[in-house]
This record gives sequence, structure tokens and C-alpha cells, in this order.
Amino acid sequence: MDDIIIITDLVKSFGDKVAVDHLDLRVRRGELFGFLGPNGAGKTTTVRCVATLTNFDSGTIIVDGYDIRRSPIEAKNRMGVIQQQVSLDKDLTIRENMISHAMYHMMGKREREAKIAELTEFFGLEEYLDKPVDSLSGGWKKRAAIVCAMLHDPKVLFLDEPTSGLDINARRLLWDVVRSLHSKGTTVFLTTHYIEEAEALCDRVGIIDRGRIIALDEPKRLCENVGSVAVEYMEGGRTNYRYFGTRDDAQAFASTLPTEGEIRIRRTNLEDVFVELTGKTVGGQK
Ligand SMILES: Nc1ncnc2c1ncn2[C@@H]1O[C@H](COP(=O)(O)OP(=O)(O)OP(=O)(O)O)[C@@H](O)[C@H]1O
Ligand SMILES: [Mg+2]
Repeated sequence: MDDIIIITDLVKSFGDKVAVDHLDLRVRRGELFGFLGPNGAGKTTTVRCVATLTNFDSGTIIVDGYDIRRSPIEAKNRMGVIQQQVSLDKDLTIRENMISHAMYHMMGKREREAKIAELTEFFGLEEYLDKPVDSLSGGWKKRAAIVCAMLHDPKVLFLDEPTSGLDINARRLLWDVVRSLHSKGTTVFLTTHYIEEAEALCDRVGIIDRGRIIALDEPKRLCENVGSVAVEYMEGGRTNYRYFGTRDDAQAFASTLPTEGEIRIRRTNLEDVFVELTGKTVGGQK
């Protein structure tokens, strides 16, 4: 299997806090990889290490065959990043930000202008191009940041919670872009708290908790490992969940439950997997 990202034994601490704890992870060339985990699990830190936006304590990271410490320029040219915190230069206009990104990646003027025009139109940014960054709302800044990250046609595109703060139109546009990039062979590394989106879009999903990968597989396989059929029932004033390999086993269990209170038997989804493995709901404690 051809792995475009190979992370081995990665450690990154902030003072006493170990944010990424001996993490091993391989992402396959051309896959749409989903990265899930509770708040503070280490997702952004991992992305920032791989994308060469921050240093790390130990371990190795190889991107498309280049060790990012030994060959940072080659590695950087293969990656585009849409950061969780939008990182545009506030002193410049949107167009100037795009030009500076293109120049950083040594794109020629003609190629740069064609690409800016194409992506600006796609994201409906034309009327904002010559405005200063700070005059745009958060969602429009994010659209501009997405265009910047995609300008140089990176082989790997990191999207760290790209849709948070976006309105429904922008979110749909972004998913269209992600699907189209994926179909053209770009590797997409997507961090998200929208688990249904990860389930629908991603070839494989990795779940990180406290700086370590605790599960990694195709969404369907992750659900099967927990048990493909879920029984949801009320007990002691709260909803409880149990998982079974077959509908018959789920039904047999449901028949033992008190009949008052609603009982639901349904397909297990990725959110169930997440809660089972991390013991937390997305974004906070259970
Ligand atoms: N610059 C920093 N200084 C100190 N601690 C940090 C810094 N950046 C991250 N951390 C800590 O590292 C841990 C991992 O944070 P990280 O931002 O990677 O989590 P995350 O999985 O992206 O979370 P979220 O879902 O909230 O975006 C957290 O405990 C966080 O407080
Ligand atoms: Mg984050």
C-alpha cells in the first residue's frame, strides 16, 4: 500500500502537557481520511506538526517520501492547509493574501491568476477580493483561506474543521470541492466534529484521544467492531445504549427490558463508535 503520510512515534508537548503522545499514523495516497476526537485530543496539534507549522519533540513525519525535517521545502510544496484558526494576513486584502500564497509556492503569474479567478468564482468571493481581510465576516474569511490553501494544487490537503462557522451554502460548496479533489486523486485529511459527514465522505476514519490513535478503519468496519445493531433505551432517567452483532441478539436483549419507556433498535453509526471508544460526546464530557 502506498502511504503518502507516514507518522511514526510522534511526540509534541506544551510544557507538562503532552498533546501528541507517541502517535503512529499512515494515510494512504488518494484517500479521504477523517480525523475525529474529543476537544483537546490533539487533532490540530498533529495537523500542525505534519504541515510544518509547528515543531515537535520527537518522532518522524514523511510526506510523499520527504522527511519534513530534512526536506521541508519539498514537503511543504505537496501540502495545503486550512487551519482551524484562519491565518490570513490582516494587513493585506484578500487578493494580496492569495498572491502571497501563490508566490510562496513559486507559481507563475499566469497560472496564479487563472487559479485565483477560478476558485474565487467558485466560492463566490469576487466582490470581496480587494477588501481588507478584517472587513469580512468569519465565514467569508474562511472561504478565502480555503482558496489560498488550494491555489497550488497540493497533493495533500489538510482541512482542520473546515465547515465550522460556514453557512449552509459554503458548507455544500466545500463538500463539492472535497469530493472533486478526492476524485482527481488528491489526498484529503479532514478533521471534523460533524460525524455524519465523516461517515458519509471518508474512506477511513482515525479516532484520537489524549494524543493517541485509539481506532482506525473504514467507518463501516468501526461500527461492526462495536456491534452493527444498537439498542437505545431509557433507564434511570437517561438514554442507554447497547450494541449487538445481529438484529436477533438486539431483539432478544430488548425483550428483556421493561416495556415502559421507548426502546429503539437501529443501525450503529459512527457517533456511537466515538462515544463508546472515547467515553465522551463530541465536544464535551458525557
Ligand atoms: N499553543 C499551545 N499552548 C499550550 N497548550 C496547547 C497549545 N496548543 C494546544 N495545546 C494543548 O494541547 C492539547 C491538544 O490540543 P489540540 O488543539 O491539538 O486539540 P484538538 O483535538 O484539535 O481539539 P479541538 O477539537 O478543540 O479543536 C490540548 O490540551 C490543548 O490545550
Ligand atoms: Mg482542533
